[in-house]
Amino acid sequence: MSTPTVFPSTARNQPFPEWMRSVQARVQATLARCLPPAESIPGRLHQAMRYTTLNGGKRVRPLLAFAAGELTAAPAERLEIVASVVELIHSYSLVHDDLPCMDDDVLRRGRPTCHVEYDEATALLVGDSLQSLAFELLAREDFGASSRQLEMVRLLARASGSCGMAGGQSIDLESVGRNLNQPELELMHALKTGALIRAAVLLGALCGSALSVPERESLDRFAKRAGLLFQVVDDILDCTASTATLGKTAGKDAAAEKPTYVSLLGIERARELAADLRTQALASLAIFTERGQRLVDLTDFITQRKF
Ligand code: IPE
Ligand code: IPE
Ligand code: MG
Ligand code: MG
Ligand code: MG
Repeated sequence: MSTPTVFPSTARNQPFPEWMRSVQARVQATLARCLPPAESIPGRLHQAMRYTTLNGGKRVRPLLAFAAGELTAAPAERLEIVASVVELIHSYSLVHDDLPCMDDDVLRRGRPTCHVEYDEATALLVGDSLQSLAFELLAREDFGASSRQLEMVRLLARASGSCGMAGGQSIDLESVGRNLNQPELELMHALKTGALIRAAVLLGALCGSALSVPERESLDRFAKRAGLLFQVVDDILDCTASTATLGKTAGKDAAAEKPTYVSLLGIERARELAADLRTQALASLAIFTERGQRLVDLTDFITQRKF
């Protein structure tokens, strides 16, 4: 067996933009390898799975998994699997989110959405199949102790299902045209977006050595703040950035009467909230000192992103 490579040992001194590109490339290669070949039967479904997953995206969740893995000196071979697994769930959630029965969007990552390029039934099956593939990979690869691997499977299942992402999407759809108060909005965002971001961080850390209880609690606090921050920024960008920059239709939230942090607080206070969440997220990383630097850089990336 080959010796596992601890990705950060060579990468620690890499400037952040370079590190980000190298993780993105590594995840792209892993996804391309793990997704069924486009020519294998059923070809149309497999082509659509590859179309939706391999077409760009910022890969924020994989980056978070790799950065959290630096805290526990996790082997890169494990990190590339959990990073890809979380991205598969994310891609599935986007394909379903764009369907006419949900947000009814025609543009994603600068290209026609899955149901526009293929058809609705295929888009439904793409989501189903990406989710199954994610769990297959997480259960199949070697993560050391089987009890830990079971914990990882359970964590991802909880983050994806009705008490996580899918539950948040359900609240989102029920809330169209309604005014949510801040705790209600926070719950919706924590579930629909925060749950999977939290899972990415925790799964990355679980690929390496154990964290102490205070470290694990701090990391969890960080992950929850970063997940909420991510969706607050998404809400702001929806009404401040252009369709060309976003690669998805701008202004959809207001047009669809979605409750967002901008509809609740207005743009300036939503920006202030994002700044507060950034501060809280960074404060949770203090315990890790320089080992947490990639997570610090990613928090700034999430706050300052333009798309
Ligand atoms: C968009 O996620 C959907 C939300 C959860 C807000 P991203 O902004 O991470 O989308 P990609 O993967 O970069 O396209
Ligand atoms: C989507 O939230 C969250 C999930 C896909 C789980 P949005 O509906 O705000 O995402 P965008 O703006 O379409 O990317
Ligand atoms: Mg949506
Ligand atoms: Mg949407
Ligand atoms: Mg949005």
